Amino acid sequence: MNNMIAPLIIDVDPHAEPDGLVRLLRRRYDNDSNAFLAVAPGRVNIIGEHTDYNGFPVLPFAIDREIKIAFVPSDDDTVELTSMDDYGLRMFQVREGRSPYAQGDWGNYVKAAVRGFLEKGIIDARRARGFRGICAGSIPVSAGLSSSSALVVAAGLAFLAANGVEMDSLDCAGILARSERFAGIEGGGMDQAVSLMGKQDMALKIDFFPLRIQHVPLLEKHVFVVCNSLVRASKTASARMSYNRRVVECRLAALLLRAALVGRTGVRIDASRLGDFNPEKTGLSWEDLERMADEVMYGSPLPVSVIANRVGISVEDIVEEYCALSDGTAFVQPGEGYEVWKRFVHVVTEARRVEETVNALTRGDVTAVGALMNLSHESCRDNYGISCDELEALTGIALESGAIGSRLTGAGFGGCTVNLVESSILSSFIGDVKTKYYEDYLGVILDPERRDDVLFPCRASDGARIYRYR
Ligand code: GLA
Repeated sequence: MNNMIAPLIIDVDPHAEPDGLVRLLRRRYDNDSNAFLAVAPGRVNIIGEHTDYNGFPVLPFAIDREIKIAFVPSDDDTVELTSMDDYGLRMFQVREGRSPYAQGDWGNYVKAAVRGFLEKGIIDARRARGFRGICAGSIPVSAGLSSSSALVVAAGLAFLAANGVEMDSLDCAGILARSERFAGIEGGGMDQAVSLMGKQDMALKIDFFPLRIQHVPLLEKHVFVVCNSLVRASKTASARMSYNRRVVECRLAALLLRAALVGRTGVRIDASRLGDFNPEKTGLSWEDLERMADEVMYGSPLPVSVIANRVGISVEDIVEEYCALSDGTAFVQPGEGYEVWKRFVHVVTEARRVEETVNALTRGDVTAVGALMNLSHESCRDNYGISCDELEALTGIALESGAIGSRLTGAGFGGCTVNLVESSILSSFIGDVKTKYYEDYLGVILDPERRDDVLFPCRASDGARIYRYR
């Protein structure tokens, strides 16, 4: 797995009809040769929510919806990209592109990708070439299907190709995951990894620190159906703060656990994430660790002053070290304190569910996969606090309509659910959810043209690639 190369460049037969976006690009830039098309898919996560940044695995697959960038390399270091989805034009020089656009601007995802390779020294800013192009997407936006990471990946691959640079896909995924944090969310590494390395008909079990992938076969005669709750979960608005808060809560949970471990056993380990407390390192079972966590997190939610007291470091040091965000700001202290215990419970039980789901998929045990998805959803709601009324209604209706498992997917706070459905009942499932959720519960009639963006079965697809047109 470790020798996949990014960007994967595929030469297109010169006699084949070019992609529509490439035709548009050629008209716009009056170019009838050398053009590229970067394609990066979105993803749906079957299970393993909010585990990635904790160093525990996830189990997503890349979907058959993507962001495309048709481009030509620039002669200089200009990056110029026009959105065909009406988000306008963004243009910057690679050398000067480090300061972000306004919070929430889509151009920040393009800048993030460029910045990642510069900071790692993969591309030298003094000699870098930009690219000029147009982009369009078929991934519903703010829906938890990773349209923003797909844009980061597509832009990253375009930048690599414009500079004739190839690199290991795992390294590339790591760089893009880190650099996407530049856009203000402390995300983990799932979305960029699966967008880059997805594989047709396979889910990907992704492990982190270091990044590793394993292909897991999907179930025969069953499909994963995505249903959009139509509650926008924009990573740039309030969902961003709620997401970052959970990242901070998990860091604090790890801090408390580390202190408890030293206090109880004298064992001092280098552990900044919950996933670092594995039995090999600690010499303890997860059951022992859970008992310790229960004691040290007693009374949760905990104000930072109580946490400081329990771990024996100052409030200022905690704020500086554990509440700092990658964009240079510090997370604002929540008045009611940090929910360390519930977050801990979600993360460690979710990590186990990922392993169990991989086993259940491998032996083709549909019922077990569905049950694990349902348990995951309950934990996302009760322990992680990332569901909402609409997602509850939608998962309930999906189960009533025959889904074997139904859960929110992605960061939560709105967005989509993923539903495991037997292929033979697919059309009745879609019909029932359409009536019961969209028409009866939300009171909206889905435009038949848009329906496929709201309620659709997903095929597991290959990861990102670049097509070269000569
Ligand atoms: C977002 C982040 C991912 C992951 C999920 C939740 O999609 O980008 O890294 O944390 O939320 O599982």
